[in-house]
Amino acid sequence: MPRTEGTYKAQSERAAGTTTGQRPAAKRQRTKMVAPPNDYLVPERDALLTPVLECRHLGIDFGGLHAVEDLNLMVGKTEIAGLIGPNGAGKTTVFNLLTKVYQPTRGTILLDGQDTAGMDTARVSREGIARTFQNIRLFDSLSVEDNVKIGLHNQVSCGMWSGIFRMPRYWLSEKEFHDKALELLDVFHMADNATDIAGSLPYGAQRRLEIVRALATNPKLLLLDEPAAGMNPVETEELMDNIVRVRDRFQIAVLLIEHDMDLVMGICEGIVVLNFGRLIAKGTPEEIQANPQVVEAYLGKQD
Ligand SMILES: Nc1ncnc2c1ncn2[C@@H]1O[C@H](COP(=O)(O)OP(=O)(O)OP(=O)(O)O)[C@@H](O)[C@H]1O
Ligand SMILES: [Mg+2]
Repeated sequence: MPRTEGTYKAQSERAAGTTTGQRPAAKRQRTKMVAPPNDYLVPERDALLTPVLECRHLGIDFGGLHAVEDLNLMVGKTEIAGLIGPNGAGKTTVFNLLTKVYQPTRGTILLDGQDTAGMDTARVSREGIARTFQNIRLFDSLSVEDNVKIGLHNQVSCGMWSGIFRMPRYWLSEKEFHDKALELLDVFHMADNATDIAGSLPYGAQRRLEIVRALATNPKLLLLDEPAAGMNPVETEELMDNIVRVRDRFQIAVLLIEHDMDLVMGICEGIVVLNFGRLIAKGTPEEIQANPQVVEAYLGKQD
């Protein structure tokens, strides 16, 4: 999403409650962040649990371009974490590395303590990483329910023969699929839209459906790439509540990329900042807002 000068500052001030913006940030309790015995930061409640994600010295080159370089990152088991940075900083590339769209040139990715080296996209999905995309990717001509069922397919198994001959197990699976799809849609108050064609939904609802479909794969870690892009302030505020609700209900971690600083500062517990592929800052929302390097990366050097 394009940004104009001042957007970062105005939004982060608004999120901090230091100006009167159009969309006052909802009062959300701040999480106490602690540093495990290493150079990372996770919510206190996750400190004794295996982090859902750890990247060590992660890097990828495209020709001569170090798109991501020496990235060290940790996300706690139930953390809502933010990955921010200017356009072209390498954020989506990090998601592509985590989901194995690209294999890293260097470094290690641990998912819930397990090294993902050599895994492909389907395997990391089964192991617990789900994502949404910067540009919505739905099956436009399928129903809302069928889009969710596609996500469910790596959950409920039905043998080849029972599938071909539509034996009882197949029907049982179909019923399970249907019930589960509606249950998930209901989390986002979309059960009434189950039979709608996905492509006919309003934009905000399509974004929500993408998240539901990702949740259907039963992830441990949900990656959201600019989930608020194109949303109006009311929809964004609703999205923030939904992300927190999803984390609370499913006890999963969320790592989100977002340019909307109200959203990032409002719900992220830990934030990392990328610039030119490198991590330039990490910390709590307050620490990130006060970090001169971050302000400089977004706004350019100020006199
Ligand atoms: N497949 C690729 N081949 C070559 N270069 C690529 C490839 N994918 C990404 N890049 C480059 O890597 C850099 C990082 O791109 P990326 O899409 O990760 O940025 P981003 O932080 O997500 O930006 P935005 O906020 O605009 O979405 C850019 O310079 C981009 O042109
Ligand atoms: Mg991107």
